[in-house]
Amino acid sequence: MINEKKLDKDLKRVMPSLKEARIRRNKEVETINFQIDPKYINLGKDKTYFIYTYGCQGNEADSEIMAGILEAIGYKHSEDPLLADIVLLNTCAIRENAEQRIWGVLGQLKGRKRNNPDLLIGICGCMPQEENATNKLLESYPFVDIIFGTHNRGNLPKLIFDAYLSKATVVEVISGEGNILENTPKVRESKTKAWVHIMYGCDEFCTYCIVPYTRGKERSRAKEDIINEVNELVKEGYIEVTLLGQNVNAYGKDLGNGEYTFGDLLFDIDKTGIERVRFTSPHPRDMDDRAMEAMAKCKSVMPHLHFPVQSGNDRVLKIMNRKYTREIYLEKIKKLKELVPGISITTDIIVGYPGETYEEFKDTVSLVEEAEFEGAFTFIFSPREGTPAFSMEDPISLEEKHKWFDELVEHTNKGYLNGHEKFIGKIVKVLVDGESKSGDGMLCGYSEHNKLTHFKSDDLSLVGKIVNVKVTEAKTWFMIGELCE
Ligand code: SAH
Ligand code: SF4
Ligand code: F3S
Repeated sequence: MINEKKLDKDLKRVMPSLKEARIRRNKEVETINFQIDPKYINLGKDKTYFIYTYGCQGNEADSEIMAGILEAIGYKHSEDPLLADIVLLNTCAIRENAEQRIWGVLGQLKGRKRNNPDLLIGICGCMPQEENATNKLLESYPFVDIIFGTHNRGNLPKLIFDAYLSKATVVEVISGEGNILENTPKVRESKTKAWVHIMYGCDEFCTYCIVPYTRGKERSRAKEDIINEVNELVKEGYIEVTLLGQNVNAYGKDLGNGEYTFGDLLFDIDKTGIERVRFTSPHPRDMDDRAMEAMAKCKSVMPHLHFPVQSGNDRVLKIMNRKYTREIYLEKIKKLKELVPGISITTDIIVGYPGETYEEFKDTVSLVEEAEFEGAFTFIFSPREGTPAFSMEDPISLEEKHKWFDELVEHTNKGYLNGHEKFIGKIVKVLVDGESKSGDGMLCGYSEHNKLTHFKSDDLSLVGKIVNVKVTEAKTWFMIGELCE
């Protein structure tokens, strides 16, 4: 039997280090075959879990893995977070407001912990990778039981075991470059659409972005592991996969001689027989001819590209360290539009990068018009400690940036509407997700071009199937249509 006090005293914390997170060594990436130590198998017997997920699709996929690990050690999913015996917060650090939400949720959890001292609370994902966030957690939120990072989720059973025996917060946040964990159990949210990580980490170091520090170095999964996973998904009846990575089209650069690229992978995934393939996010610099060829020739690869541009001004792109110019970006989408007629292109944009002038911002507005984006995630620059942009001079007030932001959004919203209007009168293929949130006997799903489409039907047997819908109405955020028999 482990002596509780002793464990507290012996408890070694592995704390994050920003300095270490910056380093990229020329070391081979290790692929680890995930296994659970038999001593943890019944840790969650008769107990339940709930995971709150914030941030990007990468985090959603990670939460499915953590759910898989928790179920493998006996926990069952609790529909009601208030009744769960263990609650995990899978966090995001991309912008300050993402973190503000987490501090808010933690405030609520404090009360719950008071009422139920047996509740275990764990914080994971990108936030603990930041030195400051982990220090603040330890200082101001001592009721948190476990803090672990993006490279430590495979250790979850041991961390829970330690937390049950220890009064002090268990901390394990490695700031290394990371490895690849294969064969983890997963509890997938959907029975038709699945996330498939093809690479982890990021080596781009865009000057505003925290991700290279929180996720470690760019590392590609072996092609065979990816294809096997997609083959399994096809066998289980999945219709759609979304390939995930911070820079998906850098896939393969770190493997062998780097000859096998993202485009090659798309061709091979197409052969598995999966009906729909999407991916996010590609980096404009790495969008090469082979990837474009795959988008044009592979029937399964959907005619939608999320293609983050960030800015339409060359000086700003340069100081962002994006490594392409406005012209190169526009040339690439011109080529794509020729190769994939009707392709829908969406993007990410940052407004108010330090030192950006109004004239430079206007270049982004004109790019939005020129590129004819059919959607954009727009963000006001948020300084992230540890990134180069954090300490850059930033003379424009937040109030002014909000004005620019509103001006931009008028243009991007027009793009959403145009993207929907062009389908009026046309028949689109919709993969049905379920009932529309508004109720009204409507079902909804996404078309091939990734347009949210609602149509009248109460036939729930259509969920998970692809149906033909004739578009009758276009709104800014969705299309409405009629089911074709
Ligand atoms: N890997 C993807 C995007 C990752 S983060 C890519 O490179 O495209 C998603 C988006 O968040 C980014 O595209 C960027 O537009 C935005 N973002 C990242 N850091 C930000 C910051 N510090 N402030 C505001 N927006 C940011
Ligand atoms: Fe961040 Fe740039 Fe990497 Fe995207 S490519 S995750 S924006 S550093
Ligand atoms: Fe957020 Fe981390 Fe994803 S910072 S956007 S959860 S990689």
